[in-house]
Amino acid sequence: MCGIVGYWGPVGPKKVIIDGLRRLEYRGYDSTGVAIFNQKTLQVLRSPGKLAALEERLKGIEFSGPSGIGHTRWATHGVPNERNAHPHKVGPIAIVHNGIIENYAEIREMLIRRGDKINSDTDSELIAHLLNDELKSSKGLLEATVKLIPKLKGAYSILVINENEPDTLVAFKSGTPMVVGLGEKEVIIASDVQAIIEHTKRVIYLDDGEIVCTQKNSAKFYDIHGKPLDKKPVTLNWSTQMAEKQGFDHFMQKEIFEQPRALRQTLEPHVTLNPYSVNVKDLGLSESEIKDISRIQLIACGTSWHAALVSKYVFERLTKIPTDVDIASEFRYRDPILDKKTLVIAVSQSGETADTLAGLRLCKQQGLKTLAICNVPHSSIDRESHGHFYTQAGPEIGVASTKAFTAQILSLHLLALHFGRIRGSLNADQISSYTQDLIKVPSQVEVCLNHDKWFKEAAEDLAKYKGFLYLGRGICFPVALEGALKLKEITYLHAEGYPSGELKHGPIALVEPTMAIIAMCPQDDLYEKNVSNIEEVRARGGPIISIGTENDHTLEKLSLHFLSIPKAGWLTNPLLSAIPIQLLSYHLAVALGRDVDQPRNLAKSVTVE
Ligand code: AGP
Repeated sequence: MCGIVGYWGPVGPKKVIIDGLRRLEYRGYDSTGVAIFNQKTLQVLRSPGKLAALEERLKGIEFSGPSGIGHTRWATHGVPNERNAHPHKVGPIAIVHNGIIENYAEIREMLIRRGDKINSDTDSELIAHLLNDELKSSKGLLEATVKLIPKLKGAYSILVINENEPDTLVAFKSGTPMVVGLGEKEVIIASDVQAIIEHTKRVIYLDDGEIVCTQKNSAKFYDIHGKPLDKKPVTLNWSTQMAEKQGFDHFMQKEIFEQPRALRQTLEPHVTLNPYSVNVKDLGLSESEIKDISRIQLIACGTSWHAALVSKYVFERLTKIPTDVDIASEFRYRDPILDKKTLVIAVSQSGETADTLAGLRLCKQQGLKTLAICNVPHSSIDRESHGHFYTQAGPEIGVASTKAFTAQILSLHLLALHFGRIRGSLNADQISSYTQDLIKVPSQVEVCLNHDKWFKEAAEDLAKYKGFLYLGRGICFPVALEGALKLKEITYLHAEGYPSGELKHGPIALVEPTMAIIAMCPQDDLYEKNVSNIEEVRARGGPIISIGTENDHTLEKLSLHFLSIPKAGWLTNPLLSAIPIQLLSYHLAVALGRDVDQPRNLAKSVTVE
């Protein structure tokens, strides 16, 4: 999950590349580096640590050349230090790489055997050695790259530059993302559009097995055999300020508070008010295909898997379609039994998660219909699915996913209502009632956000606990899992999510005054059962932080902290309960001085296995 930026143009590569790397730093940030032309020399500077350390080293250095490449690294091979940082230069070649070269051990052995000096522990450097070899018998960088590719195995993307071709950049994509920005007088190649949108909104996404070769500000595309391809640009509808913090302390905080807008934008195109109903547009699935679905199989990772788990309860109750949910990294290796009438739904904020993409491809190979729930249009998972439903959350920069999570849940709710209407499993009154519930959600989320100061007080009180147990039942059980994940990934404290009904099967042994219990307990059909679980915990000295329906004084009396959400329907409770669990984790992480937007060891998009 590294950040890659390449540039050719009149503005000068140093500024564009550093600005671009800053926008991509959330993708990976354990070391950084650039290779930029200075007169006729390709100058390489690298640094361990964050981009600020590299900027310090670049201070006062002016580069005269027209082009350069840069990289922010998330280490897969070799510890994060200067010699393992990218770019790697061998002869006139410099390269930046994202992904994993699976046959790197045999390549390394061959190079050492023939006497090459290997300077790093990375698989990336080996690519530079092989490319340098190919260049010696090629007319230029493009031909050398075409000859290199068959020698490499794995999911990876590379961007390469040659000291003898200052006006040329060549990139190849296989698995991890690569996008080309076509400016008036410049060209930018990057691993994410965030590094491109302030320069141009005209972009071309490389598909797997494709090569781009830019000469000055023109770009030509080829397949892995060097055969020219005709690719059309798309125009992005994101603005740069959408990707800025806009006065918040962290991207994560901004994105939590953007949820009313994100949910409104996700909802509005697909609901009608007279009568209240749902009609999902541009899904890519016909009514007859929807009627023909015999089973739904969702695949996702992390927070997206939690959103998919919520949808299992909703699809089965609203559409009566049997629904399975798998963690993608398990699904792709368990030889799943799939039939042609199964609809596969891949849920992914980035649309680039390697395991989810691999699970999708496995289903496509077996002829199944696939649907992507993505936040990034034209991402790999989006492009490779038959149909799609875009969450309209806007760019999500914080590594901990928040607005994408609630937008995914809402999107899946809308799909279930759409399917229920078409398949006749819901009557007009039920559709009207559920639709009205969803239309209220953005303003109900605003009410939750207005309680932020109470959530902050509760969060700061949590710092003294040694562990956290999140409990929930039914449609709110996945929200308990999500709460535990949010806490783990940004506070580095241990937390677990459990179905409340499982307490007596083991976890209740954990209950003691130093173990905080965070209980989802909205006034729904499982309320009484949740309250009795809470009383079991209290009887054993467990401190309760409850998330419940406003004015629930019974629950309030049982709780050390009572975090209230507006009175809502069954469909809505998981959406509203997400807000306090997000803010609890956010404020606790801030209180602990954690790096909230770029938590250690993590990256925003897991584009390698
Ligand atoms: C969630 O906060 C994490 N950043 C992570 O679990 C993430 O949800 C997971 O990697 C899936 O990412 P995706 O939605 O982009 O596929």
